Amino acid sequence: MARFHQKHFSATKLVALFCFASVLSLALLAVTFFASIASDWIVHKSPLLLIPNLTSSTTNSIGRDAKKIVPERFLSATFADLDAPDLNWEEMPAAPVPRLDGSSIQINNLFYVFAGYGSLDYVHSHVDIYDFRTNTWVERLDMPKDMAHSHLGVATDGRYIYVVSGQYGPQCRGPIASVFVLDTETKKWSNLPSLPSPRYAPATQLWRGRLHVMGGSKENRHTPGLDHWSLAVKDGRALEKQWRTETPIPRGGPHRACIVVNDRLFVIGGQEGDFMAKPGSPIFKCSRRHEVVYDDVYMLDEEMKWKVLPPMPKPNSHIECAWVIVNNSIVITGGTTEKHPVTKRMILVGEVFQFHLDSMTWSVIGKLPYRVKTTLAGFWDGWLYFTSGQRDRGPDNPQPRKVIGDMWRTKLSLH
Ligand SMILES: *[C@@H]1O[C@H](CO)[C@@H](O)[C@H](O)[C@H]1NC(C)=O
Ligand SMILES: *[C@@H]1O[C@H](CO)[C@@H](O)[C@H](O)[C@H]1NC(C)=O
Repeated sequence: MARFHQKHFSATKLVALFCFASVLSLALLAVTFFASIASDWIVHKSPLLLIPNLTSSTTNSIGRDAKKIVPERFLSATFADLDAPDLNWEEMPAAPVPRLDGSSIQINNLFYVFAGYGSLDYVHSHVDIYDFRTNTWVERLDMPKDMAHSHLGVATDGRYIYVVSGQYGPQCRGPIASVFVLDTETKKWSNLPSLPSPRYAPATQLWRGRLHVMGGSKENRHTPGLDHWSLAVKDGRALEKQWRTETPIPRGGPHRACIVVNDRLFVIGGQEGDFMAKPGSPIFKCSRRHEVVYDDVYMLDEEMKWKVLPPMPKPNSHIECAWVIVNNSIVITGGTTEKHPVTKRMILVGEVFQFHLDSMTWSVIGKLPYRVKTTLAGFWDGWLYFTSGQRDRGPDNPQPRKVIGDMWRTKLSLH
């Protein structure tokens, strides 16, 4: 700014300038205020309670601020919830440990639940196994010491489980590039060639004999990666020495569902940005950064060109293992949606979504027992199961609180 030189400014000029500046900033404020209301209305076509109350009087019942006449906006904390039928949930035996940002793979009746945070300062380095037939937790396997502990990419061919990259260590440490394979019959681990670069929570799936890895965040956990790599694999072994570069995904970022069904690869939801380590923090303390949660759905078919499909009913992230395939549809449980526009708090998702693969359309088919993110979902004998993740603070508060190991199931009846 230029320095103020008194001799060039008379008092009247100053007053005039001040008035002009005040009017300008008021106008700007008004524009910003109404623009933000307008954009809220456009973004959320769902039930929304938004009451700009400009008539607050001195008889304010809250009392203390009775003299302050401030325009207020009331936006219900739960405004992002969608109408959904209730489902009848039954509580099953909880996992041996609570876990957040773990991963899961179902092979027939066995449900392999990997790694995850126990708390922000403690990460698991083992696999818990649940048997849907007996509804009990039956086994625990240690993971290799040099395997990541959360935000893994996972896929299976029905015997071998491929575990790609992920975050190594607690708090907001960065990802590594290592790739492992678990033979679920011998319970032995082996290695595959490392990814070209580390990735945090990449979309991962086996498709047409190749292990595909795309999106996720780069080393700092925050910067979205667009790269897409693949590696030919068979029976837990790599058939190539190096990963092949594929067509990049149109939008990068972590926490997406990646699913192969009907010989097509789908990538659903996710976000750009994530918490990062605070610069210089010796414990890599997590610090919040800007995030954009999206509702995008992308598909690859035999043409190997990314196609854009109808978006989710609302933006949804933290769903990498929150899906099952049932009756030619994809069912997704919970997640996180966009931050509350006023409080800027993270909002969890409490709905169950269904994507119909014949019509490529979405519906909201039910409610979970609470809102919850990074659930690990399975399906057995007509029952939809989920366990783990981080649940909400209560029916009226969709912000995340407790890390859980709870297991629930409901009998699904899809139309
Ligand atoms: C606005 O505030 C006044 C005074 O507090 C109250 O009587 C009125 O009902 C409020 N209007 C709305 C739409 O909430
Ligand atoms: C799937 O479809 C079959 C045949 O229509 C039906 O019997 C079954 O109940 C459906 N499964 C679910 C979970 O709705």
